[in-house]
Amino acid sequence: MLKVPMVDTQAWHAPVQDELEQAALRVLRSGQFISGAEVAAFEQESACYLGSPYAVSCANGTDALVLALLTAGIGNGDEVITTPFSFFATTEAILRVGATPVFVDIDHKTFNLDPALIPPAISAKTKAVLVVHLFGLPAELDALTVITEKYGLLLIEDCAQAFGASYQEKKVGAFGHIGCFSFFPSKNLGGFGDGGLITTGSAAIADQLKQLRNHGSRLSYYHESVGYNSRLDEVQAALLRVKLKHINHYNHQRRQVAQWYKEYLSEAPLVLPSGNDENTHTYNQFTVLVPDHRDAVQKQLEKQSIASRVFYPTPLYRQPVLSNASRPLPVCEKVCEQCLSLPIFPGMVAEKVKALSAILLEILA
Ligand SMILES: Cc1ncc(COP(=O)(O)O)c(C=O)c1O
Repeated sequence: MLKVPMVDTQAWHAPVQDELEQAALRVLRSGQFISGAEVAAFEQESACYLGSPYAVSCANGTDALVLALLTAGIGNGDEVITTPFSFFATTEAILRVGATPVFVDIDHKTFNLDPALIPPAISAKTKAVLVVHLFGLPAELDALTVITEKYGLLLIEDCAQAFGASYQEKKVGAFGHIGCFSFFPSKNLGGFGDGGLITTGSAAIADQLKQLRNHGSRLSYYHESVGYNSRLDEVQAALLRVKLKHINHYNHQRRQVAQWYKEYLSEAPLVLPSGNDENTHTYNQFTVLVPDHRDAVQKQLEKQSIASRVFYPTPLYRQPVLSNASRPLPVCEKVCEQCLSLPIFPGMVAEKVKALSAILLEILA
């Protein structure tokens, strides 16, 4: 029987298993577990890969967003325009710093924030646009840059699902005021636990981030602000360094899997991810719309041991913590009702994609 998980980490990591084990052992034997050479090297290598002058690591992607907003001076009384279709952390970070998320609808093809809807949502309190490159597809950064510059707003990029994605030859995270990444294990550059990274072009912001992530301290036992304990550890950094070397290959493999799905499911009564600019999409998820009976289709897949996930079932403005913070946004409402993400990971072979697609076609028939 075909059994397919959302992410098969064994298939993904098998080719570099020895390298990973050596890296972990190197740290265990070094006796340096926090703020050492591995973290410094990983930050430098990431900055270089992402084409960003500075990269500062932290404990997870949520902290990356919180620290980014704090260094941008965003807090009580400020509004941040953002997407209602993302993981909760995007909104949570805005709430965590005391600001108010203002939700703007998404584009039905890309599932990303629709730039045309931003200007009417801008008020005197708006400080920033927090955009998400959802599922690995870069948002419309040209239009977003024009709008944020015109209205004097900061552009903050949530790149949690898009490590290595590029837009017009430039990597995401290098466009806005600041970029935020996650190394949660299922992400494109997935770690072996939690981890995060912030990119910036400003030496002053990088310095402030380094202080904030370490209890507001630059010098040991001398605290200039109330900060956080939000550091990436040496083991994570050493393991991520191994995977960073292969990130282009991993993203290429994801694109290849997406191509296979598109081929095998071309006749299916589904809306497939839009085919625009395949080279830039990193397919953290392969997400289709199932116009009819999405939940029943998912149950049928589950019965046949095929994983699938609904990313995301609820618009963020409907989360109980926000108690319906916005009027319903029609595209987001529809996408939440119909979206279904299928398994995708580096090392997923064509036969598996073909067999899974055949089962899905049968269910849909
Ligand atoms: C779009 C988005 N933003 C932020 C996060 C938060 O990242 P983390 O889980 O590393 O805190 C995630 C991942 O879970 C995410 O998918």
